[in-house]
Amino acid sequence: MEVHHIGYLVKNIDKSIKSFEALGYDLTTPPTWDDGRKAHLCFLTSGGGTTCVELIAPTPESELYPLLKQYKNTPYHMCYKCDDLDHKIEELKRHKFLLFLKPSPAPVIGETAQVAFLINSNIGIIELLEEQL
Ligand code: NI
Repeated sequence: MEVHHIGYLVKNIDKSIKSFEALGYDLTTPPTWDDGRKAHLCFLTSGGGTTCVELIAPTPESELYPLLKQYKNTPYHMCYKCDDLDHKIEELKRHKFLLFLKPSPAPVIGETAQVAFLINSNIGIIELLEEQL
């Protein structure tokens, strides 16, 4: 599966943007409030769009906040593109991936984007993205 982005948990999104800009990244989606996740999100790319990172700054109300407390500023998921979210989830369940966040809209990525999160004891958290084009 093709990687869409690498997701980072960050404490201060503006400071983290500056650090990624120092590495040559360009801000492609400015910080946007995601009401579902109770977090500010943004996207940056480098290498002419070949590498994409998502910065997620959870507020204390967010279910991601405990992860931020535990890991500080850190990459914490890889997001993979797929054609059929439900089908891929069923396939991965057979390989010991546990679905912990059911498919839900990801308006910051796109109007039709749906994402789901799974966890596997050997590799941690992954995100799956289906985007109807
Ligand atoms: Ni993500």
